This record gives sequence, structure tokens and C-alpha cells, in this order.
Amino acid sequence: MKIAILKERRPHETRVAATPETVKKLKALGAEEIVIEAGAGLAAAYTDEAYAEAGANIVPDAAAAVAAADVVFKIQRPMSAAEGIDEMALLRSGQTLMSPLGALNNKELVQALASKGVTSFALELIPRITRAQSMDILSSQANLAGYKAVLLAANNFGRIFPQMMTPGGTLAPARAFIMGVGVAGLQAIATARRLGAIVTATDVRPATKEQVQSLGAKFVAVEDEEFKAAETSGGYAKEMSAEYRAKQAALVAEHIAKQDIVVTTALIPGRKAPVLVTEDMVKTMKPGSVIVDMAVEQGGNCPLSEFGKVVEKYGVKIVGPANLPGELATDSSALFARNLLNFITPMVDKETKALKIDLTDEVVKGTLVTQGGQIVHPSLSQT
Ligand code: NAI
Repeated sequence: MKIAILKERRPHETRVAATPETVKKLKALGAEEIVIEAGAGLAAAYTDEAYAEAGANIVPDAAAAVAAADVVFKIQRPMSAAEGIDEMALLRSGQTLMSPLGALNNKELVQALASKGVTSFALELIPRITRAQSMDILSSQANLAGYKAVLLAANNFGRIFPQMMTPGGTLAPARAFIMGVGVAGLQAIATARRLGAIVTATDVRPATKEQVQSLGAKFVAVEDEEFKAAETSGGYAKEMSAEYRAKQAALVAEHIAKQDIVVTTALIPGRKAPVLVTEDMVKTMKPGSVIVDMAVEQGGNCPLSEFGKVVEKYGVKIVGPANLPGELATDSSALFARNLLNFITPMVDKETKALKIDLTDEVVKGTLVTQGGQIVHPSLSQT
């Protein structure tokens, strides 16, 4: 088995899908050759020399890396000619691609992979079961993103987070409100608390109440009957009714006017992010307050946020980060690369050291989107 790792070419991407540590482990697992495109890890502070020392072969470009490969690892879905760089053209029939694909929202890409005869695994679909926790790229990246979001908020804030008593007088602590308490939100709460803010948080899933409280923050939410049933069996949020959203908006409107920092993380898989902070709410916030909209890529939890920018509206700074894990490229690559190593490990045949895809395996069933020229994923094949 030969594995290729490419330099990522999408804008704002700095991460890489393997590190020298995982190269060594992949070789120990039985990979015959690991081919790395020159400079693939540089933006994440992993040098070609470090990869070579770990046993990888460095090749000059992406075409050379893919040409030699049975399996291709990526952090971002392959780009198409229409996007300016044709990474899809490099892939050929019989190869296996392991990458986040945004498969539910990028059906053309999935179709193109099927037509080419590429076997592809969409890493964002890894089921959230205990056995797959060590493979879960969404969690590993969201965790780091939640941390970084709070640091960005602090950097854009003209005040400090903790209460500080100085000979010149006392500075009041900042109030931080975290909206959406999934993986990113939990880390944002913990980070804001560590920095000394007074933290409140909200979510539509009842299970989050206890988690918020256990981190020393206060839970704020409309806790009605709909709230009690707002979690899917997969652990994700459901889309809430218009009635619930109106009640939620009223509660949030009152609370948000007293906050200094708002970090929004609310997502619903396969849908546009819910609007949680309206323009009217922003108007009520204090001048100098900061909103970090972590959902900006999925349409945003605040309609005023702009992708990749910090904008100032009604005296409030609104941050719309383009790629938060990418701002911590060394650590986020390290975790992603380990997730990928843990994902491929059970698929490597112990005798032949080749990839052996077990179609009865729950993780395989959950992530395999194309095989044998067909779209095979149950959420995609009927449409
Ligand atoms: P996510 O990124 O899909 O969404 C972020 C948060 O936004 C979620 O907590 C969601 O409930 C919340 N949200 C959605 N709509 C909202 C609204 N209108 N108002 C307020 N909040 C709203 O979620 P993430 O971080 O991927 O986690 C989802 C769940 O999966 C969590 O329960 C997490 O603990 C669980 N999980 C389980 C794993 C396992 O068992 N292997 C691994 C990772 C996560």
C-alpha cells in the first residue's frame, strides 16, 4: 500500500493530513511507501526533512505524489477545474481517497468521484460511537477551534477577561456567552473560564445543561417540551420550530445586551446554520463587545458576520473566522493525522498489508461514499 499526502491548496488552509509521527506509524502498520508532496507540511511547521527522516519520500508536486499512490489523504475535499486548480484530475480509477468531503452538501463532487471509479471515504461522516472517538476529525478540530475562538475574542476586545484589582482601581470581569454547546462550545466555555470571564451558555439539547454547569458556567435556555426532545439519536441538534426559535430569540435578546463576548457555534448537520444573533440584538450590545461567529462558513449564526473578516457594526466587532483549526495548524494537523491513522488502521489487512474494506463495519458503512463507480452511501444513493 502506497499513501500520498498532498499540499492543501484551498484558500486559508494551512493544515496537512500526516505528520512525521504518523508517517512512522503508517510505515509500522505496513505501508510500503508514504509519498509527500514537497512543502506539504511547511505551513504547519512540519518540514520535508522531518518527513524524510520519518521514512517518507518527498516528491516535487501533487501529480507525482498521486501517481504513485493507492490511497490519498487530504484535509480538504479535492478542488475541481471550476475552482481554479484541478485536483480531481489527478485521481484515477482504483485509488482510495480519505478526506472530509462535505458529502451531503457536495453531491457533484461525490458524483465525479464515483464516475472516476475512485473509492472515497467522507471523514466528516464518521459515526459518533465510542469506538470511533479516536477517529473523529470533527471533534478534534472543533475542540481546537473553540479554544482559538475565545482567544480571537480576547484579542479583539479592548478590555481584559478577569476581574483585576490594581492600585489604580478594580477592573470588572468580562461576561462571555457561548451559544451552542457541542465540542467547540464546551472548549470555548472552558477557555473563557480559564481566562477569568463570567461565562453563560445556551443550547437546544437538554444534555448540555449539566455539561455547562460542570464547567462552572451558567445555563440559559428555553426549557420547554420541544427542548426536552431536541436531540437526535446521533447526538446532534434537530432544527427547531419557528415558535421555539421566537421564544429562544426573546430570551437571548434580553441576555445578550448584558454580554461583552459572544461566541456562536450552533450547527445543524446538512443544513444552514440557525440565526441566533439578529441585527436588532447586535444593536443592543455594548460598544466594544465582540462576537465570534464560528458558524460563518455554514451561513453564520449572525447575519452581520462576514467570512474571513472582522467587521464593526453598531460599535460591536464581529469576527467571522475562515479556518480556526488552520490558525493552530501544528496541533490541528497532529490531531487530524492521528484521527486518520486510527481510521485506516483497522482497514489494513494484517497479512497482506493491503487495504481491505469490510462493508459490514459500522465505521466503513458510515463513511464510504463511492465504490466501484457507484455512489454507495445510504444518505446519498437514493437522491
Ligand atoms: P455541532 O457542531 O453539530 O453543533 C454545535 C452545537 O450547536 C450543538 O451542541 C447543537 O446542539 C447546537 N445548536 C444547534 N442549533 C442550535 C440552536 N438553535 N440554538 C442553540 N444551539 C444550537 O455539534 P458537535 O460539536 O459536533 O456535537 C454534537 C454532539 O455530538 C454533542 O452531543 C457531542 O457531545 C456529541 N459527540 C459525541 C461523540 C461520541 O460519542 N463519539 C464524539 C463527538 C461529539
